[in-house]
Amino acid sequence: MAEAQKTLLESAGARDPLSPLRLSNKTLVLEIDGLRKVFTNNGLKVEVLKDLKCSIYSGEIVGVVGASGVGKTTFLHILGTLDCPTSGKVLHFGEDVFSWNDTKLSRFRNEELGFVFQFHHLLPEFSALENVMMPCFVAGESRPKAREMAKDILAEIGLEKRFDHRIGQLSGGEQQRVALARAMIRKPRLLLADEPTGNLDEKTGEKTAKLIFTLNRRYGTTVVVVTHNLALASRMDRCIGLAEGRAVELNASELKDSGVGRIS
Ligand SMILES: Nc1ncnc2c1ncn2[C@@H]1O[C@H](COP(=O)(O)OP(=O)(O)OP(=O)(O)O)[C@@H](O)[C@H]1O
Ligand SMILES: [Mg+2]
Repeated sequence: MAEAQKTLLESAGARDPLSPLRLSNKTLVLEIDGLRKVFTNNGLKVEVLKDLKCSIYSGEIVGVVGASGVGKTTFLHILGTLDCPTSGKVLHFGEDVFSWNDTKLSRFRNEELGFVFQFHHLLPEFSALENVMMPCFVAGESRPKAREMAKDILAEIGLEKRFDHRIGQLSGGEQQRVALARAMIRKPRLLLADEPTGNLDEKTGEKTAKLIFTLNRRYGTTVVVVTHNLALASRMDRCIGLAEGRAVELNASELKDSGVGRIS
């Protein structure tokens, strides 16, 4: 690993508690109020999110926890504009992005958002390097520049020997790390990650978590991480619990208790 890359990872060591300085300049990144999401399948309605309210501020790293099936992925997909709310207010940087046309919305996604999917959604016919380069191509970056950036970021998460492997030739954990590299390559203002350490062993999971914290601290990237890993959740600036379609702020003992929290 190059010296500069080593420094970047090492600098992400133990995380300082959230300093008042970091949050003194709070700007709203996401403002959500009365969010409702209903899925209809064969005439059967499932109301997954009901009247969900929360705010996320610039530079924060926020955990989202809750029982399986409670709606965490659904919530993250809406934040990532990959799915629409049924009703309610969802503002990104003060803007109602759901009122934009597809072209404007795609550009916004490419320029401002990074998304790590629960089931990564990498392109199997391309190599690890090409998958990571993809957002740069969409943004019109030159091939050599995209290649250089993709190599740097893959090396940072220990995949320097896997550049030319196709996705199917990588382990589940390696695929998850490629997905993280793809989400981070353009240094998005908002990174949304759905169980980014879910498939990883402890050591690799820690490396990946460090990289997310580094991005957050170095570039001021706002990060929302869905996780079932309570040790990871407890290192976030704060945690939001989803339960019964609503969001609740969780303190440390509530987080330890159940990872689900109570409705106030
Ligand atoms: N497209 C869909 N159509 C119908 N129901 C759906 C759809 N997507 C999700 N659901 C339902 O919404 C609920 C929430 O799903 P979601 O994937 O958001 O849960 P989750 O909290 O991420 O769970 P996990 O921790 O297991 O990943 C589930 O009951 C699921 O079956
Ligand atoms: Mg999920």
